[in-house]
Amino acid sequence: MDLKSLIRDIPDFPRPGILFRDITTLLRDPDGLRYTIDFLAQKCIELEIQADCIVGMESRGFIFGAPLAYKLGSGFIPVRKRGKLPAAVHSIDYELEYGTDSLEVHQDALSPGRKVLIVDDLLATGGTASATAKLVQKTGCELVGFGFIIELGDLQGRKYLPDIPIISLVEY
Ligand code: PRP
Ligand code: HPA
Repeated sequence: MDLKSLIRDIPDFPRPGILFRDITTLLRDPDGLRYTIDFLAQKCIELEIQADCIVGMESRGFIFGAPLAYKLGSGFIPVRKRGKLPAAVHSIDYELEYGTDSLEVHQDALSPGRKVLIVDDLLATGGTASATAKLVQKTGCELVGFGFIIELGDLQGRKYLPDIPIISLVEY
């Protein structure tokens, strides 16, 4: 299936000069959505990525991470933006284009030795994924891979990620 044909390009969003890759058109397509999750799962199996849990980042990482966890028979752990999780958290600051923000995970969500696959919709500069990797590593877990639907290759985000398998289904 041609996933690119289901991803819509929106010029000048959220700011002039940015060509935004919009996955809502992929999500609303029943065959496209099923194919995307199945394809990601198949790649994990081919690469022998065996994760006890999948960590997905707010908000679009939730959309793909939770069904992938269901499909692979693992649990799902949300990483959320500052102040959203109710119990005690580990936090990490990360760079945005303008300023910084924090990502958080529940302290009791991950325990040392668990094998973790990080899933998000898109890899751009790698700031979000690399901060999430550091957050997961703070808990003593073992990172076993990253899974993205889209990779914006020009931005070279994968350079900033640890040397473990990085799956992306579509590259621009
Ligand atoms: C987008 C996207 C990734 C991140 C990628 O999320 O869903 O999480 O940016 O960019 P990076 O590789 O440069 O860090 P955003 O922070 O816009 O949040 P949202 O999913 O809540 O819209
Ligand atoms: N599309 C969607 N999300 C994004 C993009 C994009 O092009 N760049 C950074 N986050």
